Amino acid sequence: MADKNIKVPENIPGPYYVDEECIACEVCVDTSPSNFKMTDDGTHAYVHKQPENDEEKAASDEAMASCPVDAIGDDG
Ligand code: F3S
Repeated sequence: MADKNIKVPENIPGPYYVDEECIACEVCVDTSPSNFKMTDDGTHAYVHKQPENDEEKAASDEAMASCPVDAIGDDG
């Protein structure tokens, strides 16, 4: 389960976030490219845009369920 106390600093504020457990597997970026990005140095992902419609929310929820290390959280 993701931990809101160790969010990566690049996350845009809002319910969805990536935490420091991310191992840069890039599944979230492939699953929900509208909402997740890799940092420029490729060390981890972050939420660059919160979901704004049902499609993006579904994709973000799928990314959260698919992350192999449970590094994605939704506190909304
Ligand atoms: Fe990281 Fe999980 Fe995405 S490991 S790159 S937050 S799917």
